[in-house]
Order: sequence, then structure tokens, then C-alpha cells
Amino acid sequence: MRNVIIVGAGGHSKVVRECLEQQGIYTIIGVLDNKYTSYEERDGQFRAPLDDFSQFKSNTTLWFIAIGDNKARAEVAIKLGDVSYATIIHPTAIVSKMATLEPGSVIMPLAVIQPDSVIGAHTIINTGAIIEHDVIISEAAHVSPRATVTGGVKIGVRVHVGASAVVNPGLSLGDDSVVGAGAVVVSDTEAGGTYVGVPARKLEK
Ligand SMILES: CC(C)(COP(=O)(O)OP(=O)(O)OC[C@H]1O[C@@H](n2cnc3c(N)ncnc32)[C@H](O)[C@@H]1OP(=O)(O)O)[C@@H](O)C(=O)NCCC(=O)NCCS
Repeated sequence: MRNVIIVGAGGHSKVVRECLEQQGIYTIIGVLDNKYTSYEERDGQFRAPLDDFSQFKSNTTLWFIAIGDNKARAEVAIKLGDVSYATIIHPTAIVSKMATLEPGSVIMPLAVIQPDSVIGAHTIINTGAIIEHDVIISEAAHVSPRATVTGGVKIGVRVHVGASAVVNPGLSLGDDSVVGAGAVVVSDTEAGGTYVGVPARKLEK
């Protein structure tokens, strides 16, 4: 068992901790979040402010950033610097031996990752999402519950694919773009754009 420190104590963190415990290869030793104002120990784990993170760095401990917001997760990864990350895979997820999961990613229950796909660091593949073959997902993205990313799609950094959305084969989703829940993406998305509907159209703000 490897020791892990979890960063983030919100709703997403609950689901991450559940996956980690089910995986059975890591032990959570503490949770860091700025909602804690001082160090305390509870049920064999510590709680402490995130701003105190440097006190907890060690060569043997792994970290995991369990913050649902993509931008915030990416920023915390920069702040933490050169720590090593756990990769969390729920036991009911199906991950091809020919897929690559970068450290800090989480694969939630019932998700499927097909061959030759790459899941970037700090990326969330949420409950029941399907990542088909040859999909390249960059850092700190989030594919929400039951979304389907079909073959050969490229997903930029911090992209959010909403729940039950579909991304058609071979498309590219620009950095920081957002796909609304239930959308069907039929053409590339521009960086920073938000797309909704069937077929998906850019929201003009
Ligand atoms: C697309 C999304 C990001 C837009 O959020 P937003 O920028 O706050 O936009 P708003 O709620 O102000 O809606 C703007 C317009 O888009 C429409 N809209 C919003 N989301 C939509 C969706 N998923 N599908 C179709 N239309 C949508 C709204 O009805 C509104 O239309 P109107 O201007 O005609 O009234 C959000 O609605 C969404 O779908 N998020 C995904 C959530 C998700 O799957 N989370 C998973 C967590 S695990």
C-alpha cells in the first residue's frame, strides 16, 4: 500500500476517495484544503490547510488533486511542484492494456478506455464515460458521466465534456472549451468556446 495525500475536500473529492479505497492499493493519510484553518487529526487521517502543503512533502508519499474544477486543478498542480501522483482506477472500470494513463488521472466506476488512448495528467474520466480507441486527452480535462468520446478525438487542456455528450470521431476540442450536457459535437471546437445542443453550436455570450 502507498500513502496518498488528497488535495480538495469538496463533492468531487468524496467520489475520488471512494474510488481510491475500492482500488485497494493506496492508503489516504490526510486531506489538504483551505477550508481547514489548522492541522487536526481525525479517524487516523490529518486535515490541514492547503497553503501548508510544503510541510507534508516526502519522497515516499503520493498526492492526488481531487478538485472538480479544471482550471483550479491545473493551478494546484503547478503550485505543488515536483510531487509524485497516484493514478486512481475504480475496479469496475475497463482500461485497455494498450491505453496510457498519466499520473494524477482518475478513472471512475464503469468507465471504459479503449486501446491506444492517452489520458492526460490530472484528467477525470467520470462514471460510465466511454473513451474509444486512439483518443488523446490532454492535462486537467474532464469527461463527465456517461459521455462518449469516439475514436481518434483530440481533447485539449482543461476541456470539460458535459454529462452524456457525444464527440464524433476524429474531432479536435480546443483548449478550455466546454461541451454542454447532452450535446453531440459534430465539428471541432474553438479554444475557450462553449458548445450546446444537437448538433452542438457555439453559445454566443
Ligand atoms: C453548457 C453549460 C456549461 C452552460 O453553462 P452556462 O455558461 O452557465 O450557460 P447558461 O446556463 O447561462 O445557459 C445559456 C443558454 O444555453 C442553454 N443551455 C445551457 N446548457 C445547455 C445544454 N447542456 N444543452 C442545451 N442548451 C443548454 C440555456 O438554456 C441558455 O439558453 P437561453 O440563452 O436560450 O436561455 C452548462 O449548462 C452545462 O451543460 N454544463 C455541463 C454540466 C455537467 O455535465 N457537469 C458534470 C459534472 S460531473
